[in-house]
Amino acid sequence: MPRLAVIGHPVAHTRSPGMQTAALAELGLAGEWTYGAIDVEPRNFEVEVAELAAAGDYAGVNVTLPHKEAALAIADEASAGARAIGAANTLTFSDGRIAAANTDAGGVLRSLPAGIGGGRALVFGAGGAARAAIWALAHGGEGAPDEDGAPTRVPPFQVDVWNRTAARAAAVAAELGGRPVADPVAADYALLVNTTSVGLHGEDPFALLPLAAAELHPSQVVFDIVYGPQPSALLAAAEAAGATTVDGLEMLVQQGAISLRIWTGEEPSLEAMRTGARR
Ligand code: ATR
Repeated sequence: MPRLAVIGHPVAHTRSPGMQTAALAELGLAGEWTYGAIDVEPRNFEVEVAELAAAGDYAGVNVTLPHKEAALAIADEASAGARAIGAANTLTFSDGRIAAANTDAGGVLRSLPAGIGGGRALVFGAGGAARAAIWALAHGGEGAPDEDGAPTRVPPFQVDVWNRTAARAAAVAAELGGRPVADPVAADYALLVNTTSVGLHGEDPFALLPLAAAELHPSQVVFDIVYGPQPSALLAAAEAAGATTVDGLEMLVQQGAISLRIWTGEEPSLEAMRTGARR
């Protein structure tokens, strides 16, 4: 019986097991496949993953914070996206070998509403989540195909990157295909993507990001990649302004669906995953 799991530290709060178990049930695979959660401390990550890969009962794992860079480092082979982003969130085990993929990039593109692309995008942040978003948006669906080879139809964006620490914005933009900006005019962008932790614990995005609520407008898409316990103040303001909003739970569902497709070869139900993630 193939097993799957998410590895993180901490991992107690993760919604992936509920989400992936719902997807497996909907596919009729719940009797064959299981999806759990494993808390692994950083110092034990390499040994534990090597053991899982060697044991033979695990088909693969999702990897979340703080292990995504280590997951790429331990792999025997890696996708172009994982290598470019410098991190992996999906490991596949076969014959004791480890293949790394990054489904966050495809997850970003698949979370966007149909018809968007080719315009200007502004990414707030320069951490791990930003790296996947910048690379995906700057390359678009043809350049950043889903890790199982299925391209999305999103054309590349012109990506500007703002970060509190400007030097980090300059570094990630140069590396991944964006342009650093110090003083962006938020109203000028078709897509705003928040990858910072601002808002996760009730912080005011309009105090901490170069953005005023009055700049948001109906022809924009506003995407808050990180999901938290409360609805985000940024998305609430975006919705009030008539903008199209995308939340972090949708991102979780989309990246998880690509991972599950890599492991099982089946197309999971996004609706079942959305319901499972909210449970
Ligand atoms: P992750 O890998 O999850 O993206 P990270 O590397 O810790 O996490 O990045 C967190 C991001 O949130 C960074 O872009 C950080 O900005 P700095 O590079 O200046 O640290 C951003 N961030 C965190 N707290 C912030 C705040 N109060 N105001 C603005 N940006 C903040």
